[in-house]
Amino acid sequence: MEEGDEKVKRVITYGTFDLLHYGHINLLRRAKEYGDYLIVALSTDQFNWNEKQKKCYFDYEKRKTLLEAIRYVDLVIPEENWEQKKTDVHEYHVDTFVMGDDWEGKFDFLKEEGVEVVYLSRTPEISSTQIKNDLKR
Ligand code: CTP
Repeated sequence: MEEGDEKVKRVITYGTFDLLHYGHINLLRRAKEYGDYLIVALSTDQFNWNEKQKKCYFDYEKRKTLLEAIRYVDLVIPEENWEQKKTDVHEYHVDTFVMGDDWEGKFDFLKEEGVEVVYLSRTPEISSTQIKNDLKR
């Protein structure tokens, strides 16, 4: 199905996806199951640093290239601030917003924009932070 097709069901998710791991793949696979077209809003390096005090191992362009190589991902756009979700869902004609349940309840306000909001259980034990910490030891 093509992006411009009005019958296409569009899903969006947000995140950093540094040191891409199987927890991310599980999330993206299940997110894609909610529709036909999956958009990933990928946190920029600046947003990560300014808002989350996170320094990425892979810079934005490298993280974007990795995500674009995943079969479940149709489009990668930048996440530059906390406010853009409200406008992104309209700009990209989003039907369903998906996040891991570490964000449970945090984005329920998007329901008022007419979007289905879904929180998926995280894959246990793995995270980018965990990988960085383990390799440091
Ligand atoms: N995610 C998941 N299971 C994991 C890790 C992440 O389902 N084990 C999901 C998150 O809930 C989020 C998306 O993947 O919806 C991107 O998460 P991100 O924060 O980039 O990944 P983390 O590995 O959690 O990174 P960090 O340790 O830096 O927070």
